[in-house]
Amino acid sequence: MATTKKTTFSSTLGVIMAAVGSAVGLGNIWRFPYICGKYGGGAFLIVYLCFVFFLGATLMISEFVIGRRSQHTPVKAFQSLHSKKAWGFIGLLGLITSFFILSQYLVLSGWTTDYIWESVVGNLSALGTDAGAISNHFAQFSTDGLRPVIALVVFSAICLIVIMCGVQKGIENVSKVLMPLLVLLVLVLCVRSLTLPGAGKGLEYLFSPDFSKLTGEGVLAALGQALFSLSVGMGVMIVYGSYMPLNDNVFKTAMWITACDTLIAILAGVAIFPAVFSCGLDPAGGPGLVFCVLPNVFNSMGGAGVVFSTMFFLLLAVAAMTSAISLLEALTASLLEHAKVSRHLSAILFFLLTSAFGILFSLSIGPLSHITIGSAHLTLFDFVDKLNSIYLPPICSLFTIIFFGWVMPEADVQDELSNHGAVKIGYYGVFRFLARYLAPLALLIVLIAGIMG
Ligand code: TRP
Repeated sequence: MATTKKTTFSSTLGVIMAAVGSAVGLGNIWRFPYICGKYGGGAFLIVYLCFVFFLGATLMISEFVIGRRSQHTPVKAFQSLHSKKAWGFIGLLGLITSFFILSQYLVLSGWTTDYIWESVVGNLSALGTDAGAISNHFAQFSTDGLRPVIALVVFSAICLIVIMCGVQKGIENVSKVLMPLLVLLVLVLCVRSLTLPGAGKGLEYLFSPDFSKLTGEGVLAALGQALFSLSVGMGVMIVYGSYMPLNDNVFKTAMWITACDTLIAILAGVAIFPAVFSCGLDPAGGPGLVFCVLPNVFNSMGGAGVVFSTMFFLLLAVAAMTSAISLLEALTASLLEHAKVSRHLSAILFFLLTSAFGILFSLSIGPLSHITIGSAHLTLFDFVDKLNSIYLPPICSLFTIIFFGWVMPEADVQDELSNHGAVKIGYYGVFRFLARYLAPLALLIVLIAGIMG
């Protein structure tokens, strides 16, 4: 039970489940395996592991410390840790990022929700192994004005219900059920994929180290993915940090979360690529992989294909849902702290707002595709995608780590990391060095490289 009157997760396990739920998302399943294979398999993996454990985890720890030390949501968190209230702008930037990421995430999550349904009723299996028909089906669906919107609202409403149930009863309990389910689904799919004829080629693509493919672009992709995958840079982990039990070892917990997130990303690759290669198809990433390549794989499995395709889209929806829940919670809890509203009202407000933006982004792929922004004529969806991948998260992470490494009093950091001296913090010197120098430098590089395209 919570020892203070503030909301907390009930245990370390609860924190880990909820934070892993936030970190494990569509990025683990449709982005990581693809870039891993593309940029040299095992070679990429080594670089990725270094980035995610040294830099990604450092950022996560900094957000947890800021959250738990202050016991506030992002804006007040930064304000309360320094005498200058202006630092609150970092928290505000994080919340704006959360808002746009959630709005866009809802569109993609809606697609996976619709595909669970289409898989169950047999619409997907009816397409057979005709690659053209499968791609057409997806193109028609995603540009349809109504169906993606309905799916989006259904998905979003489920997240709303969880948030309305509260932190322990909603987020924590749901994560404790959904995360084991996610692991079970990915393991079953791994077994199926590995026992298909010719599966070895997929494993080779994914793991055999090819240093010649590990270009500068690959190193940058590893860095970007390491940060994106841990859900840092948008205040979510600050909010979850503020819910952490006070005797929880922040350092250890962050390492567990990082390890679980990485393991699930690797397992997703094992579940996907051996099957893709076994069918003689080309590997791909993103929506193309999930909605155009994989249905072909499932349909070539015969009768059981329907079961595996349903399991796969369920896996995606579960991964997306716990991420979306964490984003909605960050927004809901923040308003709750700043205005006299109830949790229900705050959650409903952000459900409505993010869904409305999500619907707009969804429509911009179909009926509203004529509305474009800038000289590059980006649709609203592509514009927000750019904002969410290139600009907002790295900028926000950069400010956060600068605040943590250079602005916040070091004594506070040490006191919080050691639980007021109760636990020994090993490798503190290394951690401090990472937080002050390497992490800001890495973020700056990601940001500049992203802007220069
Ligand atoms: N980590 C998520 C993924 O791998 C994506 C993501 C980025 C996210 N930032 C987030 C999810 C913030 C929740 C909260 O797909």
